[in-house]
Amino acid sequence: MNSRFFDCIDCGTENCPCYLAETEDCLVCGRLRGSNCDDCGWRGVCVYNEFIQNGRRILNPRKSFPSQITYKKFYGEALAVIGLATGRGFALKCEMPGSYVFIRSKGALQWYDTPISVMKVDINEGVIYLAVKEMAGKTKLILEEQEILEIRGVYRNGILGIKDVIGGQKHKKKKNLIVARGLGFAPAVLLADWIGGRASLDMILDEGGTSEEWISEYTPDKILGITARINLEHDIKLGFDSGLYKTVTAGNYDNIIVLASDYYINEIKKLMRIDAMSNNFNLCCGEGICGACSVVNSCGETFKMCKCAGIKEGFDV
Ligand code: FES
Repeated sequence: MNSRFFDCIDCGTENCPCYLAETEDCLVCGRLRGSNCDDCGWRGVCVYNEFIQNGRRILNPRKSFPSQITYKKFYGEALAVIGLATGRGFALKCEMPGSYVFIRSKGALQWYDTPISVMKVDINEGVIYLAVKEMAGKTKLILEEQEILEIRGVYRNGILGIKDVIGGQKHKKKKNLIVARGLGFAPAVLLADWIGGRASLDMILDEGGTSEEWISEYTPDKILGITARINLEHDIKLGFDSGLYKTVTAGNYDNIIVLASDYYINEIKKLMRIDAMSNNFNLCCGEGICGACSVVNSCGETFKMCKCAGIKEGFDV
């Protein structure tokens, strides 16, 4: 494999080195790709050294474990918020914006694993909250489950470009805008909880076929700026006369984060810069192994979007 990553979301974390180090396919380290250090652009702890020091074993492999359903509320017939008792340590890791987990109903085989964004975290209770919408067989079984869900995680790359948006002193003065539609509201809640109180934040929300009640119930109260509702489908057709464009022009935002389907991301991109966006690629293993999320750019480079941490210039979703 000669694909090259400009950044890996797991690099330097407690889950690095990962499975890709074992198979000599590391996305960052040349030596762990059977080559040398010539093209190393990584500025953190040496991944190769960590791998050798750790006895050529991967660090903290993520494994499925059973998790009790402690809360379930339906919004209509096809959307529910589910609370899962994961323990405090796991919940703490889920706090980071862009976190997602794989869940499946009790007794289901592993290929029923479904990636779901973390919406809310209660660290004291050790419970995480997920919004699940029935789409097909896998999500149908999840919504039918009453007691236990198998859970695997935490995975970090639910929002592409998130590393540049969150964290650090320098982000305190930044002005952020989240545009969220439909299920994109779930990761927006987690991101808003993180940003709220740390920096300026406005939100533009479109329920987009989900539930007005759900949006109202979970719209964060820590928002420092405006929270506006919009019909994005209608609004975006107005182009430079759209309410969204006018809001962005007047707001002079440092970060614009769009959490919606690729259709809306691409339409919004025609009007303005986007700094972070939903990772809507087909996520299957989340580990960079299966290749379900692979995409090849115009230069023939392969990117695994479950690991790829940034938005590259000229790289379209
Ligand atoms: S989801 Fe399997 S490689 Fe990315």
